[in-house]
Amino acid sequence: MSVKSFSRTGIDWEEKMGVYNIAVIPGDGIGTEVTEAACKVLDAVAGKFGHQFVYKTLLAGGCAIDAHGVALTPETLNECKKSDSVLLGAVGGPKWDNLPGAERPERALLDLRGGLELFANLRPAILYPQLSSASPLKDENLKNGIDIMIVRELTGGLYFGDRGRRPGGVMPDGSPKGMEAFDTEAYSEAEIERIVRVGFELAKARKKKLTSVDKANILESSRLWREVNERVAKEYPEVEYEYYYVDNAAMQLVRRPGDFDVIVTTNMFGDIISDEAGMITGSIGMLPSASLGKPGMPGMYEPVHGSAPDIAGQDKANPCAAILSAAMMLRWSFGLGEEADLIEQAICAALDRGYRTPDIAYTQNCIRVGTKEMTTRVMESIV
Ligand code: IPM
Ligand code: MG
Repeated sequence: MSVKSFSRTGIDWEEKMGVYNIAVIPGDGIGTEVTEAACKVLDAVAGKFGHQFVYKTLLAGGCAIDAHGVALTPETLNECKKSDSVLLGAVGGPKWDNLPGAERPERALLDLRGGLELFANLRPAILYPQLSSASPLKDENLKNGIDIMIVRELTGGLYFGDRGRRPGGVMPDGSPKGMEAFDTEAYSEAEIERIVRVGFELAKARKKKLTSVDKANILESSRLWREVNERVAKEYPEVEYEYYYVDNAAMQLVRRPGDFDVIVTTNMFGDIISDEAGMITGSIGMLPSASLGKPGMPGMYEPVHGSAPDIAGQDKANPCAAILSAAMMLRWSFGLGEEADLIEQAICAALDRGYRTPDIAYTQNCIRVGTKEMTTRVMESIV
């Protein structure tokens, strides 16, 4: 897929003389540590290539609830809209776990995704050969490697449908049900079509295979999902197209992950499947993501892992997912492919030399390091 179709259009990068304005949202827990790591790596890249990354640090999530009473203020969203791109760490933590749904730190993510119209969430799941021992799968399941691009719809479905509570009526035996809670999965043809096209375009540029994941044997929204997929598939005869029910997809992903290329799916199924993909590649600490919308809107880049409050502030977090998210930002928002390649190679080089944060330290002879040293080791290859 052409980078241009997602780049921050309306901006002439050459005219901007290599100055890129990045809204940085560290968020909560390990979010602070990993975004700091990613910015250090970005600065190293800037030094080498003569770019200038200008950061504006913003509050969102639990820290914003503490400071402003809400997870995302309209001013913060506005700052994000004005930026060229958003780099986010993670939000949430036990301190805010008992707040009502609409007031939780996670609300910031939904408001950013919705507010910036980031409908396409790209979650690449790659098995680094150096980390194959960290994967819980047997060697025979890993023989074809893992290189999957999960394309998760991000602004519709269950996450954004009507929800609420209402009196629940009576059980078959006549006893009262009490309150009933509901969430709604709704997808329109237009919403489905735009995400499916992202899937096909990506597949066309990769191994030319697209797997659409739904639950069309039960859900009406999935039946429409499949209809639209099949219609769009006709425009991409060069891409092999298949579909799975989500339960089967979850099974096949652990049995033969090497057979998948691009997976396109709904918001809810994408959330689940991407964690599964994270697990089979060894560590969710290695997985970056890009959330992209229509041209003209900034993209948002964030590690797939959460705020991991249990290890926050202890220099234990794996910075690789955030660093790789920064690489995705360079590639997808700024069209800086060479710079992105260099970051990805620098991560591989650090792994090759044996450096491992605790989450990926599965072999005897590896060198266990913390967040800061891992970042330094990655930067050693960016000179
Ligand atoms: C993710 C996370 C979020 C989601 C949570 C934190 C709201 O799990 O990005 O996968 O469910 O989308
Ligand atoms: Mg998730």
